[in-house]
This record gives sequence, structure tokens and C-alpha cells, in this order.
Amino acid sequence: MNDVSSGPRYQQLARQLKSAIEQGELQPGKRLPASRVYAQELGVSRATVEAAYGELVAQGWLERRGQAGTFVSEGVVPGPAAAEPVWYGGEQPEPQPFQMGLPALDLFPRALWARVMGRRLRTQTRFDLALGDVCGEMALRTAIVEYLRFSRSIECLPEQVFITTGFAASMTLILQTLGKPGDKIWLEDPGFPLIRPLIARQGITFCPVPVDDEGLCVEEGIKSAPEARFALLTPAHQSPLGVALSLPRRHQLLDWAAHQDAWVIEDDYDSEFRYQGKPLPPVKSLDAPQRVIYAGTFSKAMFPALRTAWLVVPLPQVAAFREQASLAACGVPLLWQMTLADFMREGHFWRHLKKMRQHYAQRRKWLEQALTEQGFDVKPQQGGIQLVMAVEGDDREMARRGREARLAVQALSDWRMNSFGEKGLLMSFTNISSLAMAQQQVRMLVNIIGK
Ligand SMILES: Cc1ncc(COP(=O)(O)O)c(C=O)c1O
Repeated sequence: MNDVSSGPRYQQLARQLKSAIEQGELQPGKRLPASRVYAQELGVSRATVEAAYGELVAQGWLERRGQAGTFVSEGVVPGPAAAEPVWYGGEQPEPQPFQMGLPALDLFPRALWARVMGRRLRTQTRFDLALGDVCGEMALRTAIVEYLRFSRSIECLPEQVFITTGFAASMTLILQTLGKPGDKIWLEDPGFPLIRPLIARQGITFCPVPVDDEGLCVEEGIKSAPEARFALLTPAHQSPLGVALSLPRRHQLLDWAAHQDAWVIEDDYDSEFRYQGKPLPPVKSLDAPQRVIYAGTFSKAMFPALRTAWLVVPLPQVAAFREQASLAACGVPLLWQMTLADFMREGHFWRHLKKMRQHYAQRRKWLEQALTEQGFDVKPQQGGIQLVMAVEGDDREMARRGREARLAVQALSDWRMNSFGEKGLLMSFTNISSLAMAQQQVRMLVNIIGK
């Protein structure tokens, strides 16, 4: 939160001054008191005032004019700027209502994480200062293997696990290791749009494949592009529709991949969050033909700023992946990797997931209730961290108006390539912490898009 009274004293003072500038109480060109005088006035040290001034000079709010003193910069625009969300001292802004792709930031056990990291930091040896394994630290890879065995029924060796800085880095590693320009890739339609430019950069051609109630229509893929080299999909909860890939389709997909020597890329980014029924096993757990590359991430289960994801690659491909990985050694700092390994090994990760499953089920219910109270039609989904609300009319225009009002809803149409179908708005519920909050946000949405 943007609490002016937290953090070191100089930062508190910097925030107070910045807020006064934003509110127009301190006008551009106004001279500030000399630091010695101001320090006496406030009962703080002169160094505190100097540090606060220094920070605001660095941010452009104040300027020094030599002997003449410190002044509010001429360039700042007071008044209207105060209506913008207030960013203090390098802190991130709060999530926008409905913002997708974020876990519940308020529920992550930050103090526990800091303790685990602090312990690692204090017990570092000089060897921890050197470059680690280019594929990621063994301790973390081993912890991931244990977790996958226990939670996802995937049996693999630590050597098969590659640590990356996120899904984009994972995809780059896969395509650079196994792909070549001109190869084709099946993509779910509708599907996650942000990954498409990266795939295009590698010279790989998209083959959109429609999605129905059983997930990706494998038969359609085989009909339109049987020779594709890759199929990228989200079998646990299709992103964004939330359906699970049915068991017959999982087998059909694996048969196709084995027959064609194609690669299935299983993006399992949010599979932990399922609220009803028993999850189907991941495609990777059925992968006798060794054609599946499994991509996981800690962005949802932990937090996105961790920038840590992983791949599980078939054993015969380990050497090729290792060679490619060595060209750009693992980008996740060793300290973070080791902290994460401790966090997992000590059971904190598992406990956190268990807690989050309950919270997300509750938060989803709150948003669903608030939307249905207003007469909206929410698509049933068994899991995931986002939901789809059907709308009539131009969903792109609705999403645009929402964005203008800082409501981070997305249009289902913007996730489509060739497919036609229902219009909808995609939204996340992860950061909605009460029914009242859900109702308030939905009322804001109604004001913007109507009913
Ligand atoms: C479909 C999908 N896959 C993967 C990811 C994970 O991305 P990253 O690990 O880079 O945070 C996301 C994040 O929003 C996603 O929506």
C-alpha cells in the first residue's frame, strides 16, 4: 500500500513532499527550506532531510540551484497528476481491478520468504559468489522433481529440469533447441496472445487450432497442419476458456506427436488451482513416447517478480538443451534459486499452495456472485486464476473503455486468431479480498460498459 508513514524516515519525508507537490501545495519554482533549518523544524537529522531532497532530485521533483538552494522543479505538473495512481519511492503501483496474470499479492508470506532468504544470505560461502550451473541449481531442480512427483505424478530426473527466467525464456530455449525457421506450431485459438510475437521472432509459423468443451480440437489440428513440429497448449485449464483437455484428446495428441516426431509443449502455468473435481494427470505423466516438454512457472504459485520458471525435457534431449542453455547461462540469481529450493524443501511452498487454493475458491465465488447479482453470465470453470464473462456486443470496445477507466479487463476477441465465437471479458479475481470489494469493482464496470 502507499502508506506515507512506513519505511525509513527520509522516504516518509520524501513522500510527504512529493504529495505536497502533486496536490499543488508546493508550486513549481518554490524554494524549499535549507536542510539544516528544516531538520530543526521537523526534529530530524540534517542527513534525513538531505536524503529526502536527494531522492526527489533524482526523481525530477526537485532541482538544486547551487548556493541558491533546492527548488520544486519547473517541469512538474501539479493538480491533475494527483488524480493518477500515486507511485511512491520506487514502489510498484497496486494491481488494477481485475488485472490478469497476478496471484494474490496480499497473501504471499513475505516475512517468511525474507527469513528463508536472510538465512541463505548469512550462510553464503565464497563459492556462492561464482557462476552456478548453466541449467539451474541442482538443489532447486531436485526440489522441483520432488514436487512434480508428489503433486503432478510426473517422474523425472533433476538433469531433465532446466531453470529459466519465465515462460518466454522457456519458449525461447525450446524453439532454439528443437526448432528451425519455417517450422509450424499449433496454437490454441483463442489462446495466450503475449507469446505469439516471440514465436514469430524465431521464424516459426502459427497454425491456429480451435478449442471446444474438451480443449484443443486435436482432430482439427491434424486436418489443417499434420506436419507441424510443435503443439503449444494449456491442457489443465485452457487459457483463457478454462476447459480441461479431455483424456481421449490427450492420447490422440500424444499419438500424433509420436507419429510425426512433433513436440508437445505443455504449458502448466496454473494447474495447482483447481477448485472442483479431481485434476486430470498432466500430458507429461502419460508421455511414454517422450514427445512432451513440460513448462511450469513460479509466477502464479509464488509471485511474478521471482522470474523463475522451469522446463522438463525428455531424457534423450537433455544434451541438446544443455548445449543451448550454456550459450546464455541460467538468468535466475543463485541466491533466489537456493532460497526457493529451501522454501520448497521445508514445506512452505506446499503449505502456501494449499492455503491459496482455498482463498482463490473464495475470491472467485465473490466475483462470480457480484457479477451474477448484476445479471452477467459467468462461464463455469473448474479452476484457474481468471474467469470469463459472456457479453453481447463489441467486447474489444468494452475492454478499451474499461482500460481507460483503469479496469484491467481484456476482450476475449483479442485472444482469438481465426476463431469466431462468443464475445466475452476476461478478468482475474485473485486480488479481490472481500465480497464488498468485488461488488464495488463490478459496479464500476457496469458504469463503464452498461449491463
Ligand atoms: C498462458 C500462460 N502461460 C504461462 C504464463 C507464465 O508466464 P511467466 O512464467 O513468464 O510469468 C502465463 C502468465 O500469465 C500465462 O498466462
